[in-house]
Amino acid sequence: MVEDALRRIGKLATAEIPIRSGPELPGTGYRTAVRMLAQPDGRLAYRQRASHEAFVPTTCGVAHPLLEDLIATIRCPGATEVSLRVSGSTGQRMVVTDTDVASVQAPPDVIVVNGNSPGDEHITETIDGVTLRISAHAFFQSSSEGAAALVEEVRRGLGSADRSGVLIDAYSGGGLFSATIGREWLGSGGSVIAIESNPAAVADARVNAPGAKQVESRFERWTAVRADAVIADPARSGLAEEGARRIAATGAARVVLVSCDAGALGRDAGLLTAHGYRLTDVVVLDLFNQTSHVEVVSTFVLADSED
Ligand SMILES: C[S@@+](CC[C@H](N)C(=O)[O-])C[C@H]1O[C@@H](n2cnc3c(N)ncnc32)[C@H](O)[C@@H]1O
Repeated sequence: MVEDALRRIGKLATAEIPIRSGPELPGTGYRTAVRMLAQPDGRLAYRQRASHEAFVPTTCGVAHPLLEDLIATIRCPGATEVSLRVSGSTGQRMVVTDTDVASVQAPPDVIVVNGNSPGDEHITETIDGVTLRISAHAFFQSSSEGAAALVEEVRRGLGSADRSGVLIDAYSGGGLFSATIGREWLGSGGSVIAIESNPAAVADARVNAPGAKQVESRFERWTAVRADAVIADPARSGLAEEGARRIAATGAARVVLVSCDAGALGRDAGLLTAHGYRLTDVVVLDLFNQTSHVEVVSTFVLADSED
């Protein structure tokens, strides 16, 4: 699927590009976040595929056991949609409801948050030895093991990039990469600039990666500065023309792109190639085991700066 997208959409000669598998990730019980519908009796239901109809599960193979337990026990009468999130490393559990928190019947350990006024409530995850704050409305990867594997593969993609220079963390969320890999830059006299559009995620990143400069902006609107390396982890729609242009404007010798949609990767790889980058390495991670989705970490090197 990934090779096909790179060849047909990106128009790249895939025979020359190493495409390899990342580390094996859990096939079941890995997913730490779900969004569900509340039934009139307060029980939670999934949506049926391609429909708004409810489906009340007895079990879900990919859900983390802490989530499974929460789904079975919690009742949210009067709510419409509810998000559940657990921490694979600390065991904390959080429920974000669209109704009065007092109406939610949940075990005592569960943090219940009203999505309209989330306040400072959050859970924490420990990834790559760093404790990260994850608040109600900020993005976080859908599994702890997946997040750790991503950090490892992005670090590998950055290879020997000069840690005393400037690292850009684009689409940085709550700072997963700034807080882990970014430490290597900050500890070597370098600097980290994180660009993220969601204010809740930026607030988390200020805590998680205090040494990084946080820029709350759409990446496409950011005024690019010179950089040595870029990590870009956009949403499903990918970089598109404007995002690729911003990356190219940094002049970074090395770019590590994290893609959760193979088609968007194909297009973005073609765009970065047109800006003078060469795709040197592709790692496919089974972050969404049991589904047709994959996460891909691709490394690009600026052709006239090959290191
Ligand atoms: C796939 S997540 C990655 C976040 C982070 N790198 C991580 O691994 O936790 C994509 C992030 O991009 C943010 N985002 C979406 N569109 C954006 C845009 N146009 N400019 C900047 N950030 C954007 C989302 O809010 C989200 O936090």
